[in-house]
Amino acid sequence: MKVLVTGGAGYIGSVVASQLLDADHDVVVLDDLSTGHADAVDGRAAFVKGTLREQARPVLASGGFDAVLHFAAKSLVGESVERPDVYWDGNLGETLALLDAMRATGVKKIVFSSTAAVYGEPETVPITEDAPARPGNPYGATKLAIDVALTEFARLNGFGAVSLRYFNVAGAHGALAERHAVETHLIPNVLRAAVTDEPVSVFGSDYSTADGTCVRDYIHVTDLGRAHLLALAVCEPGAHMIYNLGNGAGYSVQEVIEVCRQVTGRPIAAMDAPRRPGDPDVLIASSEAIRADLGWEPVLGLTTMVEDAWREFPR
Ligand code: UFG
Repeated sequence: MKVLVTGGAGYIGSVVASQLLDADHDVVVLDDLSTGHADAVDGRAAFVKGTLREQARPVLASGGFDAVLHFAAKSLVGESVERPDVYWDGNLGETLALLDAMRATGVKKIVFSSTAAVYGEPETVPITEDAPARPGNPYGATKLAIDVALTEFARLNGFGAVSLRYFNVAGAHGALAERHAVETHLIPNVLRAAVTDEPVSVFGSDYSTADGTCVRDYIHVTDLGRAHLLALAVCEPGAHMIYNLGNGAGYSVQEVIEVCRQVTGRPIAAMDAPRRPGDPDVLIASSEAIRADLGWEPVLGLTTMVEDAWREFPR
């Protein structure tokens, strides 16, 4: 297939672009490099620098495209609370421009990066796809709004869409690793503490969990990426499928820090800090649906995620 990968210079988009190329697909990356890195774009892909509003239509109109994999987004929960306008415009507004360009050019298959953040504080775990979607922040709300738009484009315009709702993505795929200018994620922050000897902050130790710290479902970026290729193969005209994407197992913040100590062989100091607003106690995916429908299985566990992230970690 010939595919457009939006956000293909970012962490997850660059991994999926490289997996698509390994599977002999033809890839064009569109990224405005606002948070991505030009050197993360696979040399086998064509690269167009620009926003979706500016470039999606001319790129798709250049012809031959079968599908779009849509990763381009702003993805910091805290920032979205401070600047919801930037998230509504940057995520929903830009995506509507992409969907319109797809409709105009007759490219109707799309795999979309959605998020567990659409569920907000869950009533039950593991979280299934039919759980109420009540996002607790603008980031999750913008992603949910895009999921709603995709359902409409499938119903009214015959799009074949798959939304993948990611839980906590970690690890590296070869040299492709997380490189965020503003890093909020737990594993890179713990590895930073391993390198600098500054303690990592543990945001809250009085949650309703076994050790009092938040429990999350970590998934290796390589396993996550593979699900996109399976999803691409099942985009069916008129259908919008939604799948959670996690391991189905949870680890507490303390457990993650302990695995990081083992992998790095460094002591890694941890310091109790206040809760981060909006963090639910436990987020664990039910990945039954994607296993049953697409035959997807995660194979790489937390230790491998930390080993791979540590191998690529700047120091
Ligand atoms: N945490 C710390 N210290 C840190 C960083 C994180 O204690 O320095 C804690 C957080 O409070 C949380 C856990 O580690 O309990 C995981 O935090 P992350 O920021 O790594 O991930 P989140 O679970 O907050 O966020 C992830 C995705 C978001 C998505 C969300 C869905 O990164 O994009 O899941 O709820 F919105």
